[in-house]
Amino acid sequence: MQINGKNYRTIWFEHNTVKIIDQTKLPHQFIIKDLKTVKDSINAIKTMEVRGAPLIGATAAYGIVLSILENNDQSFLKKSSEDLIASRPTAINLKWAVDRMIKKLSGINSSNILKVALEEANAIVEEDVIFCKNIGENGLRIIQEIANKKKDTVNILTHCNAGWLATIDWGTATSPIYHAHQKGIKVHVWVDETRPRNQGANLTSYELNEEGIQNTIITDNAGGILMQRGEVDMCIVGTDRTLSTGDVANKIGTYLKALAAKDNNVPFYVALPSSTIDWSVKDFKKIPIEERSSKELSHVEGVDENNNVATVRIYPEKSKALNLAFDITPAKYVTGLITEKGICEASEKSLKKIFK
Ligand code: MRU
Repeated sequence: MQINGKNYRTIWFEHNTVKIIDQTKLPHQFIIKDLKTVKDSINAIKTMEVRGAPLIGATAAYGIVLSILENNDQSFLKKSSEDLIASRPTAINLKWAVDRMIKKLSGINSSNILKVALEEANAIVEEDVIFCKNIGENGLRIIQEIANKKKDTVNILTHCNAGWLATIDWGTATSPIYHAHQKGIKVHVWVDETRPRNQGANLTSYELNEEGIQNTIITDNAGGILMQRGEVDMCIVGTDRTLSTGDVANKIGTYLKALAAKDNNVPFYVALPSSTIDWSVKDFKKIPIEERSSKELSHVEGVDENNNVATVRIYPEKSKALNLAFDITPAKYVTGLITEKGICEASEKSLKKIFK
């Protein structure tokens, strides 16, 4: 998608280097950063220079390539895979991508391994672009239906950033929105700010602005009253891990939006590529929930009147804070899952039917 009228992807490989857009600097600065070692990849995932489930999967896949470039040795590769998988716990795409790379590389001799690894990482990236595009085409049908009935702007609420910045291109939750906009359907997006890191305000609003899509940032607690007032036609969110049962792990606050949506008869959709489905865990209480530094709550970053980036503390110094990064929305609150293969109910039967 576009930044300043120029097309970008979030990650690419060039001259033995992985290039990323440093998302910790957005929206105030646009900086392309080089990752040259597997440690750089792990650090980029941990510090959230790259974030969003599909993008951290792709970064881990290229991390395996960097690991081989650095040291073409089996025990180094094993340690790199373990460290990559451990870099963030909730998004299943990370483990999915590393497992896929390691499976592909097993039995490949060392003279060929770099070539095969790069081909597979590139395949993961290209596949994600196609899957997200398909999610967009499938989700477009829902927006089109609402637009046909309403004959007015469709108001869509989203949480966090499940936009192209969280994937390689298109995004998951935003892809139907981009497709609708390109078809000339009038859409307006309510963007949850998404404390504490403000991915909604800093990333979703930014990318929608760059594509010329109307959007309004709201506090994380405003969705409920907007739904009561009839100002939300549908919600679409992304996910970091969806169980085969249809239970959805996503950015903290998603669950509360789903409860409000249920209470107000607002359809609540989750958009995801199949790489985000966890077919093995059945009990949502077993999903590891990432706990991040309390400094993400107590400190905020912004720009001052001279456009200098500054970080300030906003809490009493002695106060304790708990920073849980994800929550679970039980399947019963999910109207449907928008996948690359089509839209289905959030249930094992329905998921298995389309993914055979
Ligand atoms: O902590 P983040 O910014 O990586 O969380 C991202 C989300 O919660 C997204 O909704 C999810 O990864 C889906 S991305 C298409």
